[in-house]
Amino acid sequence: MSELFESELANTATRRALRVLQSAKGRAAVIDGREMILFSTNDYLGLSHHPAVIESACRAARDYGWGSGASRLISGTTAPHMEFEQAAAAFLDKPAALMFSSGYAANTGLLTALLGRGDTVFADRLCHASILDGARYSGAKLIRYAHNDPNDLARRLDGAPARGKRLIVTDGVFSMDGDVAPLAELAQLAGRHGAIFMVDDAHGFGVFGPQGRGTPHMTGIHDRVDIHVATLGKALGGEGGFIAGSRALIDGLINFSRPFIYSTSPPAAQAAAGLAALELVKSDAGGNLREKLVENMRKMVQILEKIGYNTQPVESHIVPLIMGSDAKLTDCSRHFHERGLYVPAIRPPTVPSGGERFRVSLSAAHTKDDLERLDAAFGELKAGGLI
Ligand SMILES: Cc1ncc(COP(=O)(O)O)c(C=O)c1O
Repeated sequence: MSELFESELANTATRRALRVLQSAKGRAAVIDGREMILFSTNDYLGLSHHPAVIESACRAARDYGWGSGASRLISGTTAPHMEFEQAAAAFLDKPAALMFSSGYAANTGLLTALLGRGDTVFADRLCHASILDGARYSGAKLIRYAHNDPNDLARRLDGAPARGKRLIVTDGVFSMDGDVAPLAELAQLAGRHGAIFMVDDAHGFGVFGPQGRGTPHMTGIHDRVDIHVATLGKALGGEGGFIAGSRALIDGLINFSRPFIYSTSPPAAQAAAGLAALELVKSDAGGNLREKLVENMRKMVQILEKIGYNTQPVESHIVPLIMGSDAKLTDCSRHFHERGLYVPAIRPPTVPSGGERFRVSLSAAHTKDDLERLDAAFGELKAGGLI
């Protein structure tokens, strides 16, 4: 028998490998024995290392143990799980919420429970893999509309059979492009076509809108979002996902969502840390962190202006720089690495071929010096004709 995956892994240029952090402190980490500034994390507010978050996790671990020992429906639901869910639902102005082990499990667990054969999902072309996988596993028909294009969605809604459930889904902030979805137009189409409207605001939650409630609140259409998904793994600095919506939706998920039912529940410490992070997000301290993040976004805009990169406007803390070729990515990556900067290179299949890019993730934890080092590195790449 030949080696497993032998032919699939034969192309060494596209082969993925793990990068090991010997230690990590939010915006900085030691990789291969060298301290690097990370422009790769989704820890947008730097809460993963906040003392209040860590203390909450430790207290819950002492009180409930590290592992929960059972699935949620058996004996894996603790007071911190319920407290997090109630706080998350109230924060998003929804009657109820349900926590999952990850955002991936939330999306796949939601779509497979809610939809089946005869139903239709209309998803933005660039929706996150967890949404597309959930739609495919559900057996519903998956129709992908052109990215951020309500006109294309309208045409596809008109052309699709009007039977079964129809669900329109979009990311709030797109994970690889950093642009924001036209939520008002999408909500209007959902209303007109009697479709369920779902927003996965993994990257907007904690960052955008009043008190960091996310893109639906920022655009003032949150009451038209039937299903609001977010994660604990990004601005909350932790791990896990959650779904907020009607009581009936959440009861349905508790009864029919297989990743929720047939999996050991996330540790109480995970929920307690999420709750502490949520309290910070809502507080004045959270507001200050969001201001710092916006300041860092402004500095990033200046860096891009200096190198003459104006392919697309900077709409969020996720900033893509499309390089379009693997060779360019490799040369520039080496340059960043030599300067102690980790700027992740994103290649197909995560992005379409030709869309090879650097994805700069900004955090409120980045210092002025971090951004100046990034500025200098981009300046050298420009001077060397590499970008
Ligand atoms: C839009 C979106 N949804 C869901 C997820 C999955 O979340 P998690 O990392 O918690 O599994 C991601 C992850 O990056 C994402 O970008």
